[in-house]
Amino acid sequence: MTSSETNRDGTADPRRSAQPGRAGSPAWELLLPAASAPARTRGRSLQAALREAVRTGRLAPGTRLPSSRDLAADLGVSRGLITEAYEQLTAEGYLRSGRGAGTWVGGAVRAAPPRARDLAPRSPGARADFVPGTPDLSLFPRAAWAAAQRAVLAELPHQDLGYPDPRGLPQLRTALAELLARRRGVVADPERIVVVSGVAQASTLLGFALHARGLRTVGVEDPGSPQHDALYASAGVTTVPLPLDGEGIVVGPLRDSGVRAVVTTPSHQFPTGIAYSARRRTELLDWARSVDGLVLEDDYDGDFRYDRAPVGALQGLDPEHVAYTGSVSKSLAPGLRLGWLLVPQALADEVVERKRTMDLGHPTLDQALFARFVEHGDYDRQLRRCQRAYRERRDALVAALREHFPGAEVAGIAAGLHVIAALPHRYGPQQSFLARVAAAGVAVRPLTDYTHARAEHEGGGDVRLVLGYAHLSPARIRAGVRLMAQAAGV
Ligand SMILES: Cc1ncc(COP(=O)(O)O)c(C=O)c1O
Repeated sequence: MTSSETNRDGTADPRRSAQPGRAGSPAWELLLPAASAPARTRGRSLQAALREAVRTGRLAPGTRLPSSRDLAADLGVSRGLITEAYEQLTAEGYLRSGRGAGTWVGGAVRAAPPRARDLAPRSPGARADFVPGTPDLSLFPRAAWAAAQRAVLAELPHQDLGYPDPRGLPQLRTALAELLARRRGVVADPERIVVVSGVAQASTLLGFALHARGLRTVGVEDPGSPQHDALYASAGVTTVPLPLDGEGIVVGPLRDSGVRAVVTTPSHQFPTGIAYSARRRTELLDWARSVDGLVLEDDYDGDFRYDRAPVGALQGLDPEHVAYTGSVSKSLAPGLRLGWLLVPQALADEVVERKRTMDLGHPTLDQALFARFVEHGDYDRQLRRCQRAYRERRDALVAALREHFPGAEVAGIAAGLHVIAALPHRYGPQQSFLARVAAAGVAVRPLTDYTHARAEHEGGGDVRLVLGYAHLSPARIRAGVRLMAQAAGV
């Protein structure tokens, strides 16, 4: 193997090497969580993991797979399961094999575009999956939701079942204006609110509106959410990664970049977890005014702040230079696809027209239901309930990390649904740590997964993890951290 095929810690890089791999080299580590899935689903899990590895390009076309005997031995599963997986994936076109000549990754598959990773897929076979950004879906208030649904069906005037105002039902926009002003300190005029199907749709609409104004680039935080890259790209706007420091996005490079719009997560930066300082907020708004530009504020988890009242939204300081967006994805469920966008005057017409042509407005029953849910105090109750549960889980995670990883620095704990854990040097290099932890059935994501120069950071370096906790019980969190520490073996 040449040095270009070797990672900093000396392990084989499956994306460059066409040599047979072994468990313990990164290619086959991908299969370890599936190999420890319950016996009943192990075969399917292995096939799914292998398919995913080919589809995403982690196993490049032409890569030769180990013999079924070797791979079965390395993964500790029966040879029949591996033979079956090879046959199935060969039949599907993901793999190809020659009689007695081995099995390769086929050339028919096109690697998925990079945005696939931003969906932070759950790891089905994992014993604990610290995926960030997922709320506890079992906290969904089914009874209150059902009651609101019944009431709305009984009361909704017939004419509200027609095509809605593309901005949304007036009743919901009024309820949202009150809610967001009270909870997030935004300046909320119901006329400037657009009901959308989440921050994702708000970002696409903003991308189109910027494009219509002649902008072809938008700044984004680095590290940041890969969602932003994918969503703005879909509107024809390219993202320009900009560095952060401990106070937020750094304004010097922002100014030098020449962009006139920048996407930010000031209440709880994704993923580092910092809250933008008051000074940086002011600098950012000064920049926006000086270039006649815009700050796009993604307030994806701003409602959850544990140690004091939530930091107010940036939009409240300058509503004509900040577009503000949020959703119920963290507070109720992402599957509802319901959110809001508060637009400055300069973008309002374009955004509303785009919303109209995109889907002729948001479903009215959902809107009426959520309006009632907010008006009757059910939404505030839900937020309080989640806040209590998530604070307890955050405390459990921080305590377990302190106990099992002495010297670890845990950041971003004041808010949101995830933290950053920086482990002491002795736990590195990162890639071998991740491999050991994956083998123990614990799914974690490194901070480097969220940096734009991702490839440069892979392999070596200290371990920095983005750990989501909201969807895990305190017992599961403690068990997951314990397993992780045992696997680290330091
Ligand atoms: C930073 C950030 N913004 C936006 C979103 C998408 O939010 P929505 O479900 O409201 O579209 C996510 C999803 O996890 C996210 O992490």
